[in-house]
Amino acid sequence: MHSMKDDIKYVMVDEAKLGEICDRLAEEITKDYGDSNRDLVFVTVLKGSVLFATDLMRRIPLPCEMEFMKVSSYGAGTETSGFIQVHLDLKRDITDADVIVVEDIIDSGRTLQKLQSLLENRGAHSVKCCTLLDKPDRRQVNMQVDYVGMVIPDEFVVGYGLDYDEKYRNLPYVGVLKPSVYEK
Ligand code: IMP
Ligand code: MG
Repeated sequence: MHSMKDDIKYVMVDEAKLGEICDRLAEEITKDYGDSNRDLVFVTVLKGSVLFATDLMRRIPLPCEMEFMKVSSYGAGTETSGFIQVHLDLKRDITDADVIVVEDIIDSGRTLQKLQSLLENRGAHSVKCCTLLDKPDRRQVNMQVDYVGMVIPDEFVVGYGLDYDEKYRNLPYVGVLKPSVYEK
């Protein structure tokens, strides 16, 4: 078997930087929710956000819960025509809870926008979003992201949870794939 490293053009976010990002975001979240008495529920969006969510949560000293969702969004071109399909749903009621959606990357923003309104409609007290990576150049909807790890240029990245054809999620860093991998 070949090494995944051979498929990477360059490392965009190395392990040390990922650690710094998690430290900073965990500190911000701890500060923002430290005085709250509500249930704090992290909703990790499968599968790409799993590695980030576990590194983030272990740095937060507040009591909180870990939930998972698997969704896909279909944006049929224009505005509100898209919808969200829920493949795996929460195992608890989130009425009055403070929810933080944990995302790997925000691209068009469609998935997150729809997920956020779905969770708000379920009666959450607040729904915020924490993303590891943000590609603002690709944004197609106007939305606010509350916690951003790092803004990146419009390049397709893999590793630390992010995949290409379900592979490369286990790379310990975020890297850009060599074009030869797509062209195969
Ligand atoms: P969107 O913001 O609704 O367009 O969808 C974002 C989703 O697209 C992410 O959760 C990823 O699953 C996927 N995605 C977007 N950009 C990348 C990338 O550079 N690498 C891997 N997956 C990506
Ligand atoms: Mg994803």
